[in-house]
Amino acid sequence: MQITLASQPAAKVETEALVSYVFESENEKGTPVEGVIADLDQAAGGALARLAASGELTGKALEMTLVHFVPGLAAQRLLLAGAGKREKFGTAELRRLAAAALRHLRARSVKRMAFLARESDRGAAAAEAVTEGLLLGNFEGDTYKTDKKNGPLEAATLVGFDSAAAQSGLDRGRIIAEAQNFTRALGNEPSNLLTPRLLAERAEAMAREAGLAVEILDEKRLAELKMGALLGVASGSAEPPRMIVLTYTPPNPKPGAPVLALVGKAVTFDTGGISIKPSADMEKMKFDMAGGAAILGVMRVLAQLKPAIKVIAVIPSVENMPGGRAQKPGDVQIAMSGKSVEVINTDAEGRLILADALHYAKQLGATHMVDAATLTGAIVVALGGVNTGVFGTDDAFTARVLASAKSAGEKMWHMPLDDEYRELIKSTIADIQNVGGRWGGAISAAWFLREFTGDTPWVHLDIAGTAWLDDAKPWMGKGGTGVAVRTLVELAMNFDGAPSGK
Ligand code: BES
Ligand code: MN
Ligand code: ZN
Repeated sequence: MQITLASQPAAKVETEALVSYVFESENEKGTPVEGVIADLDQAAGGALARLAASGELTGKALEMTLVHFVPGLAAQRLLLAGAGKREKFGTAELRRLAAAALRHLRARSVKRMAFLARESDRGAAAAEAVTEGLLLGNFEGDTYKTDKKNGPLEAATLVGFDSAAAQSGLDRGRIIAEAQNFTRALGNEPSNLLTPRLLAERAEAMAREAGLAVEILDEKRLAELKMGALLGVASGSAEPPRMIVLTYTPPNPKPGAPVLALVGKAVTFDTGGISIKPSADMEKMKFDMAGGAAILGVMRVLAQLKPAIKVIAVIPSVENMPGGRAQKPGDVQIAMSGKSVEVINTDAEGRLILADALHYAKQLGATHMVDAATLTGAIVVALGGVNTGVFGTDDAFTARVLASAKSAGEKMWHMPLDDEYRELIKSTIADIQNVGGRWGGAISAAWFLREFTGDTPWVHLDIAGTAWLDDAKPWMGKGGTGVAVRTLVELAMNFDGAPSGK
């Protein structure tokens, strides 16, 4: 979708649909609409004021009022989106509103739209949020449909933005949203078309195009490196595993400067292995590579936005299958770090591949690590589909990640990781076991990862509940969400300074 800035008066914009928004407070008795909405109302001879007086235009969040052929407007339609309470309206709400408005129009086969920002929303951050919203809203997970009914919008004009700052916000928004959509598309790919080898090929192609260094470790190399935890998971599948390593090096690298490692779980399909999952909903387990896909999206952005910090992506990829060579409950595997692991449940595979990936990231020189993983059903029980679970060993670093999430508009919740939980993963026969029992399942999973992070400040994002939408929202289609991309971009971009609490 083409997105451009325009500065002509809104009433004169010729387009299929002009979108703007009204706040709830503007509908309270006696409170007149202000600014550009008042201008539109004037052009329309008071039609909008009458609409508000009718009670049909309340301004409630994401309420859509579509009016055709408004006199005085060059646009064929006027879509007034509800913005909710003015006090609660920020960039996250603006992003969502732009996405929902676009999807409302897309469902009506509109191809070209204009978005009129309110006077208070005209800086770089607002231009970025609107651009992101439009591009995210325009994404549909229908790759393999041969008959696509309502195709994407083709063009949008942002009215009311005309500064160089707004243009740079737009450019940044496009880079980030396109990467988030790249991540979403990977999450939606079926596992027959996205094996570990094919994911590695996609990562390699993306890295070459973006100008990132890339190395793909194959099964032979992984065996040389003694990644026993990862190889144990991979052994049940006819598809060989891969470890994808991408490196972004800043323009002026300083010796001794921090190195951020981003580690992403990429299980291209999780059957559970010998501890096989029930068949209901198993098809969803194609998205068990969402963490890895998010890290690839982040790297794609960093290649373009060029932060000051060096960033290494480490993405372990396997298919978790039962089979004649599959690992079995009770098996002991030796991780690359030398720790022995008793595999009580082969369905707790994510932590096994991450154990070797985290250790490897440290060996590559990471001074700070963040992993993203669809790790546990337990985090979905705890937080549902709203918040990503955040675990960390270093309070200052964890606070930075949480602040980055806040400013990126992604909801994340800090979970505990007290020492007392460590005993859940004690094993009789080995150093640790890979499951911690029924209670506190997301925490014992995080504790398992912690065993492989040593003293390196580390944050774990459990995205099992947030990386996939079972049902479309007004602002986003079904399927992969691309969660964590924006947060980790924010983290890397502001690594040296304080995160910018928008
Ligand atoms: N990939 C799953 C976690 C998951 C569950 C992601 C639901 C998205 C939605 C993970 O590999 C898994 O199977 N975890 C087990 C761990 C258990 C065996 C200790 C789980 O959560 O049930
Ligand atoms: Mn599993
Ligand atoms: Zn899994």
